[in-house]
Amino acid sequence: MSEALTIRDNRTGKVYDIPITDGTIRATDLRQFRTSHTDAGLMTYDPAFMNTASTRSAITFIDGNRGILWYRGYPIEQLAEHATFLEVAYLLIYGELPTATALTQWAWQITHHTWVHENVKQFMNGFHHDAHTMSMLISAVAAISTFYPDAKVSDDAGHRDLQTYRLIGKMPTLAAFAYRHRLGQPYIYPDNDLSYAGNLLSMLFKTTTELKYTPSRALERALDVLFILHADHEQNCSTNAMRSVASSGVDPYSAVAAAAAALYGPLHGGANEAVLRMLRDIGSTSRIPGYIKRVKAGEGRLAGFGHRVYKNYDPRARIVKRMADEVFAETRPSPLLPVALELERIALQDDYFVTRKLYPNVDFYSGLIYEAMGLPVEMFPVLFAIPRTAGWLAQWREMLDDPEQKIARPRQIYTGPEERNFLALAARP
Ligand code: ACO
Repeated sequence: MSEALTIRDNRTGKVYDIPITDGTIRATDLRQFRTSHTDAGLMTYDPAFMNTASTRSAITFIDGNRGILWYRGYPIEQLAEHATFLEVAYLLIYGELPTATALTQWAWQITHHTWVHENVKQFMNGFHHDAHTMSMLISAVAAISTFYPDAKVSDDAGHRDLQTYRLIGKMPTLAAFAYRHRLGQPYIYPDNDLSYAGNLLSMLFKTTTELKYTPSRALERALDVLFILHADHEQNCSTNAMRSVASSGVDPYSAVAAAAAALYGPLHGGANEAVLRMLRDIGSTSRIPGYIKRVKAGEGRLAGFGHRVYKNYDPRARIVKRMADEVFAETRPSPLLPVALELERIALQDDYFVTRKLYPNVDFYSGLIYEAMGLPVEMFPVLFAIPRTAGWLAQWREMLDDPEQKIARPRQIYTGPEERNFLALAARP
């Protein structure tokens, strides 16, 4: 065997050749390492999946040391500059950029699946007036699975396409309904004349006095680019949730709800909300050194900094930072931008952050843009979940077609008591 790992098990003296494929060994190959015939075999122990590939995937590539991100081989910088979000969503789902005809059909399908059942308004109205918009979105997307009981059968390509159109189409509508509910404002129905991002802006901001909402071109493009940057990111926490939950064969609405719930956490997609709260908390550049000192003393983390995979500048953060100026030219300069810039400057010179390779991630600057667009922090994770739905669905479809995938079921190292006999209530100490 040329590409192999030769391992001697000192417990038995036996030597094994373990094949290496694509830089990995198969964890199940370790099962043959046994000390007796009752031994179930050696396992790997990898809490938080620090060094375990759970799948083969052709969708997204990240080189964390070099700060590289590709979707289907295309560098994120090129996509952010030249493509639209719907083109990128198609690329993620089908593997190639669409032809002009395919793009027209794809955009038509997404646009014509933006409506939701009228009953959605009723359960949206059941939420408390100050319910978090992300909680409402998670609940709403799980709830719409009740309208599509047929969605569980997913081995037919046309059927999967239908769920894909529906989910990408309806997420902005559900998100906007959640936002308008929080404000106590009437829901705005989708406008089929507008782009994906433009329609979302319309559903968020249209007032009843306007016959037709015309989005600012700069803000519409900025939102579209942010959607491109957030569309997929290989096997992160929420994508892993999507794959793991969907591996049981559940419908994709329920699986997307689970993925969105994973995204909601402050260590993941909730970080953009946490960044803005942090910047507001810091308030002025003079308070940055004190804040950094507290972080280094272990009192919390610098939100929007650090990444499991990037040990270099997150390429998405670079694009967002550049875009911020264009957005602020259209809106008003964010009073928090100087705080963010100075915080980044100081952190990138500080030994604590340098040695740990902690750089700004995509969420460090995105919140400032959303805020400038007039959106409250509760909408930030929601604006992450909308485009990430395309990535989750691409990963879901890839998983369904992968003959090696089964229901996800990790193993454990049992640390509880040995077998013991039941104690009657009166006999318990
Ligand atoms: N601020 C201060 N210290 C940090 C930060 C941070 N933001 N991130 C990591 N560290 C430190 C840890 O304390 C640890 O230090 P130690 O070695 O002295 O114990 C070291 O850096 C390594 O951190 P881990 O938590 O082991 O790294 P992990 O890969 O598990 O975590 C994560 C990655 C969750 C993103 C982390 O960097 C973090 O909490 N960042 C802040 C939240 C955030 O911005 N999340 C968004 C990520 S991007 C996304 O999901 C879209």
